[in-house]
Amino acid sequence: MAEHVEVLLSEEEVDRRIREIGEQISRDYAGKKVHLVCVLKGASFFMCELAKRITVPVSLDFMSVSSYGGDTKSSGVVKIVKDLDEPLTDRHVIVVEDIVDSGRTLSYLLEMLRSRGAADVKLCTLLDKPDRRVVDVRVDYTGFQIPDAFVVGYGLDYDQKYRNLPYIGVVNFDSPAQ
Ligand code: IMP
Ligand code: MG
Repeated sequence: MAEHVEVLLSEEEVDRRIREIGEQISRDYAGKKVHLVCVLKGASFFMCELAKRITVPVSLDFMSVSSYGGDTKSSGVVKIVKDLDEPLTDRHVIVVEDIVDSGRTLSYLLEMLRSRGAADVKLCTLLDKPDRRVVDVRVDYTGFQIPDAFVVGYGLDYDQKYRNLPYIGVVNFDSPAQ
């Protein structure tokens, strides 16, 4: 099936918003260090840009959980594919995600990370689709709330494609010619 991508949020809009979130985090964590936990692969572009905009000391770690595969619907099955390298004990953790959709991935992940002795665990997501929520998740920092559409770019993929787009786009699936 062919598909094409339409711009939803331009590169400038995304960059400006990430700058604002970075400033807000820098204010909220003044005098502390933050430990950013990136959920691979989608959040990697966001996390790098965000980290550059935070002025308090930052450390980074990465984890990978299974999500969509080649489909556009959440399976509800969450599996840790790659765990963190370092313990979270006494750290001020911010989990950095690309998008919160049903909330299944994050609710599982946050519960698991909160059991590891961090001082606190907050959630920062570039995108939020509140209309799609199945499991309640408290989001502390949100880039943009977006409508229920499948989006790509800035790290987000459709079947591993389009992660490298510098903007956020909506995927339109073209139906075959009649
Ligand atoms: P949730 O568990 O349903 O909240 O799904 C979260 C994960 O699903 C995200 O980290 C993404 O990997 C993926 N996902 C959800 N919506 C989209 C989308 O619109 N585009 C690309 N990936 C998405
Ligand atoms: Mg994905």
